[in-house]
Amino acid sequence: MGGAIALALFALSTQASAATWKMALGDAAGGTQYELGTTFAKLIEEKTDGEIKVDLFPNGQLGSEQDTVNNASMGLLDLSVLAINNITPFSPTVGVMTLPYVIRSPEDAKTLTHGKVGQEMVDNTLRDAGVRILGWAYSGCRRLTNSERPVANPEDLKGMSIRVPKNEIMIAAYQAWGVNPNPLAWSETFTALQQGVVDGQDNPYITINAMKFYEVQKYVTDSCYVFSMEPLIIGEGMFQSLDESQQQAVLEAGKEATEHSYEYLLAQEDAIKKSLVDEHGMEITEPADDEKAWVDQATSIWPQFYDSIGGKEKLDEALTALGREPA
Ligand code: MLT
Repeated sequence: MGGAIALALFALSTQASAATWKMALGDAAGGTQYELGTTFAKLIEEKTDGEIKVDLFPNGQLGSEQDTVNNASMGLLDLSVLAINNITPFSPTVGVMTLPYVIRSPEDAKTLTHGKVGQEMVDNTLRDAGVRILGWAYSGCRRLTNSERPVANPEDLKGMSIRVPKNEIMIAAYQAWGVNPNPLAWSETFTALQQGVVDGQDNPYITINAMKFYEVQKYVTDSCYVFSMEPLIIGEGMFQSLDESQQQAVLEAGKEATEHSYEYLLAQEDAIKKSLVDEHGMEITEPADDEKAWVDQATSIWPQFYDSIGGKEKLDEALTALGREPA
């Protein structure tokens, strides 16, 4: 009898200290955000012996990606995974990661996030937005999709309305290509494509697939103007309320989930690209001349953003880390 009471008391006390966190995802289940989120959830539960559990809310159920940054920083939301372009408005120096044609491959993305540049992004986001980056989903290069025709050159976009994130750098890149972009929240994008409010958008293959964009888009340009990385963030107030061992567990789970995300991208992207064509009837076009016109026009906007990213030297630091010439 005494043993049973002790067991019941133990169960009660574990329940009292256990917490279930809410994690917002902008994308649907099945993409890189979801893979990072479920991996983090599994790891944190293991590392804290079940003290911390995480429930995932995909598809923007907890608000637009930009709303989730505010909510996490105000303590109204525990965790969010969102695209880096939706963090930049809160912490402009992060823009160095979304300047067109800086990051051109998964290896580049890993080099920057694992190095000094990545650490600065973590520090600056904490300072500017009150959220801590715990890890990264690597989603791949953003590919342009549209419902109208094959696009190999920027001129082929003439007359089309293209949805872009509410991100100054990406808006400027499209303007440099001669397009009048339509900035829309991510959560509104599928419906806008479906209803023909916009003709196209850009996102990585894995995201195009998870979001079922093949239902409303036919053509893909195999471009790589921005590499999509998706930070996992926690509100700093929530992080500071944890005890030391929980903080340690959260940081470790974030790091390990990041490593998993990189392997997931390398293992999945080609097969998903192939299935978009073979199973979903999308048509892929290579950018003309090795993407030269796209690169030349889009990189001409770099100087407009030197101030917001913290000076030209910040871009040069990133390019040098990637083994390239300074701008
Ligand atoms: C966007 O296009 O707003 C985002 O990159 C989408 C995403 O979070 O996957």
